[in-house]
Amino acid sequence: MSKKFNLLDTDKIREYYDTKIPSLEKGYFAYRWEASPLRREHYHQTHMSLMQELANKDFDCVVEVGTGPCVWTKFLSMRSKLLAGVDISLEMLKGCSSDDNVALLCCANAYQLPIKSEIINALFSIRALEYFPDKAKAVKEFYRVLQPGGYLLIITKNRNYGGYRSPNRELNNRFSRKMALHMGNVSPEYLASLIQQQGFSQVRIKPAIVGRTNFLPIWKVIRLLRRWFTPQWSEGIPRIMDRATESFMVTAYK
Ligand SMILES: C[S@@+](CC[C@H](N)C(=O)[O-])C[C@H]1O[C@@H](n2cnc3c(N)ncnc32)[C@H](O)[C@@H]1O
Repeated sequence: MSKKFNLLDTDKIREYYDTKIPSLEKGYFAYRWEASPLRREHYHQTHMSLMQELANKDFDCVVEVGTGPCVWTKFLSMRSKLLAGVDISLEMLKGCSSDDNVALLCCANAYQLPIKSEIINALFSIRALEYFPDKAKAVKEFYRVLQPGGYLLIITKNRNYGGYRSPNRELNNRFSRKMALHMGNVSPEYLASLIQQQGFSQVRIKPAIVGRTNFLPIWKVIRLLRRWFTPQWSEGIPRIMDRATESFMVTAYK
């Protein structure tokens, strides 16, 4: 694994993003969400999952943790009166613009949010939890800042996804590098139980990005089907679907 990107060290993660982002010619969004047809498909499915989940919800005071360059804030701001973004990397936050409708941006650690206890209506963390070495500590902090009845939504990479797991053969260099990059991923059932242990209730798991092969038409068909039907569970995604689920969403209430 690259020395620059140690997933068990928060300082290294900050350093990674703070040095990587200025070096990207076209910026983070183009690099992460647009660079290939598959990445674009990941973006569309994440967007769709978010919009479906938030369709009938409105909040006053919302925080996104691991907001990066405000990729999702325009969608979150459609559902909130006041939105703040928190990220550990200043360079990532510099990618946000005034069009992103964020009232406040703050460079801070998810473990120590600079927010008073129990004043937030909803907290979002999208594609960031996989980089928090201590997930329990972060979830505990999310619980602290949320009001009673407050809403939590996390989208993160799935540890059980077949594309990130070791096949039954010896690891070659390319594969072990890929595995190392995903060492912070958790399983849906693990995250759901962690969230429950911290005191959250009504914990729900839904697939966020689904499709296993590199054959894009299959991903697109699944996306179309999900327009009509998005299954959800409280304890885990059924095995048959789990291995094809690249990312999942967990929602809960304080
Ligand atoms: C893969 S990026 C995702 C950015 C954006 N949410 C998106 O979906 O495009 C992960 C983000 O999490 C942030 N991050 C990682 N560890 C963090 C921590 N402990 N506290 C706050 N932010 C953190 C990183 O700086 C980075 O901006």
